[in-house]
This record gives sequence, C-alpha cells and structure tokens, in this order.
Amino acid sequence: MQSAQPSRLSAAARGSFATALGALVATIGSAVGLGNIWKFPYLVGNNGGAAFIILYLVCTLLVGLPVMIAEIMMGRKARANAIQTMRALSPSARQPWWLIGAAGALAAFLIMAFYTEVAGWVFAYVFKAISGAILSTDPQVTSQAFTDLVTSPFQSLLWQWIVLAVISLIIVNGVSKGIEATTKRLIPLLLVMLIIIAVRSLTLPGASQGLAFLFTPDFSKITGAAVLTAMGLAFFKLSIGMGTMITYGSYWKEDQNIPTGTARVMLADLSVSVLAGLAVFPAVFAFGFEPAAGPSLLFITIPSVFASMPFGGVFMTLFFILTAFAATGAMLSLLEVPIAYMNERFAISRVKATLITTGLLAVVGAPAALSSSTLSGVKLFGMNFFDLYDFASSNLLLPIGGLFIAIFVGWFWGRKNVFEALTNSGVLKNEGVVRAFWVIVRFVTPVLVILVLLNGLGIIGG
Ligand code: PHE
Repeated sequence: MQSAQPSRLSAAARGSFATALGALVATIGSAVGLGNIWKFPYLVGNNGGAAFIILYLVCTLLVGLPVMIAEIMMGRKARANAIQTMRALSPSARQPWWLIGAAGALAAFLIMAFYTEVAGWVFAYVFKAISGAILSTDPQVTSQAFTDLVTSPFQSLLWQWIVLAVISLIIVNGVSKGIEATTKRLIPLLLVMLIIIAVRSLTLPGASQGLAFLFTPDFSKITGAAVLTAMGLAFFKLSIGMGTMITYGSYWKEDQNIPTGTARVMLADLSVSVLAGLAVFPAVFAFGFEPAAGPSLLFITIPSVFASMPFGGVFMTLFFILTAFAATGAMLSLLEVPIAYMNERFAISRVKATLITTGLLAVVGAPAALSSSTLSGVKLFGMNFFDLYDFASSNLLLPIGGLFIAIFVGWFWGRKNVFEALTNSGVLKNEGVVRAFWVIVRFVTPVLVILVLLNGLGIIGG
C-alpha cells in the first residue's frame, strides 16, 4: 500500500466515535433521514406501491449493502477523510482514485443544497403544527400554507439558514461530542414517536386499504426510469456513493464487525422506511386522500390527514419533530465529509472548516431555496434547481460513485486486503460472508449499476 498523502494532523488528533454502539447509532443517524420520511413514501406512491418496494429491496441488498461495506471498510483501513482514503489505498500513485472522493464532495454539496431546504420546511412545520396554522382537513388550506412558505424568498432562505446554523452548532463539537452524542439522543426518540404514529394510523377504521397499497405489487408502473429511481433511492438512503460512509468508517472501532454492523444499519434504516409507510398510507386512505401526491405529500396531504384525526395537532407536532431529528442526523454526516477533509488535509480548525462549508452551502443552496419563488422560471434540462440537484446527485453522482467504489474494491484493492479488513485479520470467523461479499462486489454490483443507469437514462432497453 502506498503511503497516505501527508496529513498535517497526527493520527492521535483525529476524532473517532467513542464506542462501537455509538458508531452504529451515528451511522444509522446518517442513513435515516428525509429519505425515509419524505422521499420513500412519495416515491412508493408515485411508482406503483409494493412493486417499487421490491425493486428498492433488490437494489439495497445487491448494490447498497455491498457498497456500504466497501466504504466503511476503506475508511476504517485508511483512517482518513474520503479523498485521502482513496489516495492512500490506491495501488499506484498514477491511478486517480482520489477523484471518487472529490466527486463525492461535490455530491455532498448538491445534496446539502436541497436537503437543507426541505429540512427548513420541516423545521418551519414544527412551529406551524404547534401554532395550529396547518391544522386543517381541507387540502386547499394546507396547500396554500405550503405555497406561501415556498414562494416567499425571505422565508425559504431564512429557514435554510436556521437549519445550517443548528447543524453547525452541533458539528463544531466534534465527532464524538457532537455527532455521536446528538444522534444517540435523537434516534431513540425518533423511533418511539414514529411507532406511536404508525400504531395510531394502523388502528384507524379503513387502514387496511393503505396496507393493501403498500403490500400489493402493481408491476405495470415499473419503467426504466422507475428502476433508476429505486436504485437512486437505495444509494441516497444508505448515504453511499459519495464518501459519507468512508468518512464515518474512518471513525469506526478497529474490532467492530463490519459486515454485521452495516447489515444492522441497513435493517434499521429499512425498518424506519417501512414504519414511515405505515404511519402515512393507512391514514391517507382512511380519510380518503390521494396517495400519489408527489414530493408535497409530506407538506400538504399529511397535515390534512392529521387534522382529520382526534388529537391530530399533537400527532402532527410529533411527526414533524421526528422528521426534523431524522434530517439532522443525516445532515451532520453530509457536512462531515468536507469538514474532515479540510481539517485533515489543510489543518483548518473544525470551527473554521464548518464556517467555510456552511458559507459555501448558503451560496449553493440559495438557488434550490429560491426555485419556487425568485428563480421559478429558470429551468435546466427541464428541471428547476431543486429538482436538478436532487436528480443529479441521487440518480447520477451517487450510482456512478458507488460503481467506481465497487470496481476499486473488487478489482484493484485486492482480495487479500478485503479479507483481512472484513475478518479483522482473521479474528472474526466470517469467511463465508466475506466470500459472498467478494463475489457480489466484483460481479453483481457493477453490472447491475451499469445496466440500471444505461436503461434509466434511455441509452439501452425500451
Ligand atoms: N441517507 C440520508 C437520508 O435518507 C441522506 C443522505 C445521503 C445522507 C447521502 C448522507 C449522504 O435522508
């Protein structure tokens, strides 16, 4: 192995998660986010319910999990940020694998740009839910409230900046005292609130229609674009293909079991998505609303759905608080990618790196924030900035990043390194699992990603 590009920070000065459990919870905190509560339900609604869930599961198992294992493994091996990890593990200095890390940093910015905006709406909705402003069974009223928010340039920017300020205040405290400590508090609370709401939704009269929608597949809606969306969601959900998991892996414990740990993260994340589906769809159907409402499902339909049930205001407040918690854990991991890089490569302090990153984000994020107001007329490739950032990151940059990560691990890094890293140098007796991983990451993952990308972009197939 070639030595790492000299880091100006000594290894001892690097942050790390304090415990294996803390590492797991923080990683779950990265995976669980708006993807589960905002994206998953509307994508399932738009793409044929259970048929889409099945595709998503296949992508998660054959693409998502292998890439997550690869990333955590590389980060832990190199103990460096995403860019320097790729440089350090590269078999030859002439192979530009660090570009994957650099593309990942770009993806992190694009995702943060629209993510902070949606998170901003969620933060705003916590207050609207408490004040009762969106407690109306009439979708016209809730729709107007949402329109008022997104078409106001001032409010859009303000809430985005509030979000940026909140996560900055957490992340400057460091990997363990900031990220780990926060996610350890938020994730259990989030789970409890989500379970309460799912139970409430499932016990409404007429809930079974929502269950049928979630669990009866309709394959007629499945197109190449839908398959690409399912794969994009699998990448987005597990925070992979862009260096977040490399960065977090670099803070994992030396004796942690990577295949089991990552599988737990995936299962936890999947459970939250299913719980979110169970919280949303039974109630949507019980009160006679439309499930396929697109991205505004969360902000227009859901408030009306809650307003239709007894004590709806309380449940709605809980729901938006738990969504804000989920978004926070994910955003911390997105911010950590550039912060760790600046901190280690250029010895810029965490506080300064946070200020620089947030400042840049306020600039890159503004077009997304203003895409329904000041910039609503500006379209690139037929999309406004918000949709473009989302499409380019989830459906292009993450799958392409993941493809190269799988190719790097399967074909360049070497079998010996992989087996050593995943068995913890032979301590874990899990050769069978590692062998399965080795075959999948070499053959199945890259081929699937290439096929889905080409087909989804209309280059091959019908
Ligand atoms: N996994 C997060 C979610 O589902 C989003 C995310 C993507 C976070 C990429 C980090 C990196 O909301």
